[in-house]
Amino acid sequence: MLAMMTAQSSKAAAGQAATALVKDGMVLGLGTGSTVAFLLSALARRISEEGLSVVGVPTSESTATEARELGIPLTTLDENPALDLVIDGADEVDPQFRLIKGGGGALLREKIVAAASKQVVIIVGSSKTVNRLGATFLLPVEVLPFGAKATEAKLTTLNCKPFLRTLDSGGEPVYTDNGNLIFDCKFENGIDDPERLHQQMSQIPGVAELGLFINLCDILIEGQEDGSAKVSERD
Ligand code: 5RP
Repeated sequence: MLAMMTAQSSKAAAGQAATALVKDGMVLGLGTGSTVAFLLSALARRISEEGLSVVGVPTSESTATEARELGIPLTTLDENPALDLVIDGADEVDPQFRLIKGGGGALLREKIVAAASKQVVIIVGSSKTVNRLGATFLLPVEVLPFGAKATEAKLTTLNCKPFLRTLDSGGEPVYTDNGNLIFDCKFENGIDDPERLHQQMSQIPGVAELGLFINLCDILIEGQEDGSAKVSERD
């Protein structure tokens, strides 16, 4: 219980620190997840208290709902194809700022939005930094329902064991906002070569996107359990 509370306070610290990077007039990408929820609350406070004027492109239906409830104005990537700043969470971050994302199932839209932005800020609580990606967290891969079994078989040729993400033990699959499935891929000793894996998996027909984010994180904000935040830039 205490560990959960400290993890939450470090996420809150990261989310709140990230709002300092938001400037008046910016078009923002709004990520998905529990750390981003703290960002959204802090952003909404700045909008109502300081009159900050921003618009956000949500990376998921859940973020769109949260933002609307908080009064954060929204837009679409079609209306604003070039974003100033994206702020999003991550499941794992390695020393080269390579990421695993997609624990919340929003990886495809998150990657499209990150690729459309001048700068990407990743906010994480404690315990998300790792030396080797995939050693503890399974790699989410978004797969089209058509031919999913064939795609799954191709994934296994890349030294991983894919598990279909389901809602419950009943086995009902989770569908993403794009109507696709997710396979969480287990690598026995983590991912040897993330760049190579990214290239190989992206070539499998039926893979819509994978949760490896390489060369996309510019600034990392790590919240600490004492409420402070450490800000680092990619070399
Ligand atoms: C959603 C994501 C999230 O950013 C990631 O899962 C981190 O979530 P949280 O902030 O809840 O720990 O990639 O697809």
